[in-house]
Amino acid sequence: MTDPAGHRTVQSMSAAAFAGIAALAKAEAGLVMPPNKLNMVQSRLRPRLAELGLETYDQYASFVASADGVGERRQMLSALTTNVSHFFRENHHFEMLREQVLPELATRAREGKSVRIWSAGCSSGQEPYSIAMTILEHAPELAALDTLILATDIDPRILETAAAGRYSENQITTIPEPMAARHLHEAANQFSVNDTVRKLVRFRELNLFNPWPMRTRFDIIFCRNVVIYFDSETQNSLWPRFEAALRPDGWLFLGHSERVSDSYSRRFRTVGMTAYRPQAANTTTVQQAIEKEEPYGTA
Ligand SMILES: C[S@@+](CC[C@H](N)C(=O)[O-])C[C@H]1O[C@@H](n2cnc3c(N)ncnc32)[C@H](O)[C@@H]1O
Repeated sequence: MTDPAGHRTVQSMSAAAFAGIAALAKAEAGLVMPPNKLNMVQSRLRPRLAELGLETYDQYASFVASADGVGERRQMLSALTTNVSHFFRENHHFEMLREQVLPELATRAREGKSVRIWSAGCSSGQEPYSIAMTILEHAPELAALDTLILATDIDPRILETAAAGRYSENQITTIPEPMAARHLHEAANQFSVNDTVRKLVRFRELNLFNPWPMRTRFDIIFCRNVVIYFDSETQNSLWPRFEAALRPDGWLFLGHSERVSDSYSRRFRTVGMTAYRPQAANTTTVQQAIEKEEPYGTA
């Protein structure tokens, strides 16, 4: 179908197409799409219809749910996820990292133990790079020891942006000036993260609702501004898994409007604003849970 000017037009999304797409987004990635998101879903998926040469959202909904639509499901989730991020977002976690967490981890590292940090839902990379810069500034000996930041996201396209590590001048304004000068370099009006920072970070595609194949447990998990897109039942499926993936004396940081739900709050103690540590009493359960995990080989 074309409009009078000869441009291809696409019909509005039907309630049935929206329901099918919303159900798939929930089943695949835990994303909640209430009916008032129809316009947003429609506009974010319009380029996908153009790319596939489809004329209706009903055709798209059928295709993406079919066996042949497996590749398109990744594209659909990429289009539907919200990737907003910035450097040193919710800075209180970086203050805590600097003042409380890194001194503890430096002691462990000096004893020959590895340090593993997970940025779960890392989006375009600002979160893991902010962690790496904090390490280089405040505990540089960690960078020379066995320290890695695993940065994962469901969205393969945003991971490419993250791995490229190139940002506009506007995007780097939240990095304190002397730090920016030490850890970024300018080329062609863009600011690239230096290799010393990049070396600490490994990017991987991972849907939080698929098995987590990591081999080691983490000292810190940052999962900030991610679970806000899931309903409470879906969030509740994650808390025991985060607990299992953390070392018994680890740390969990959530986004400003996220909380470990009341039914799991006995398994974590609050140690700061949206900052948690596991209750030591759960160590055995944690060990049993972790033994079921498959090897990952990168963390
Ligand atoms: C708003 S960004 C948060 C980025 C960063 N953590 C921060 O606070 O700045 C949310 C990220 O979560 C990712 N995400 C959403 N659902 C996910 C899932 N099921 N598994 C893994 N990542 C997911 C999105 O792709 C997006 O990049």
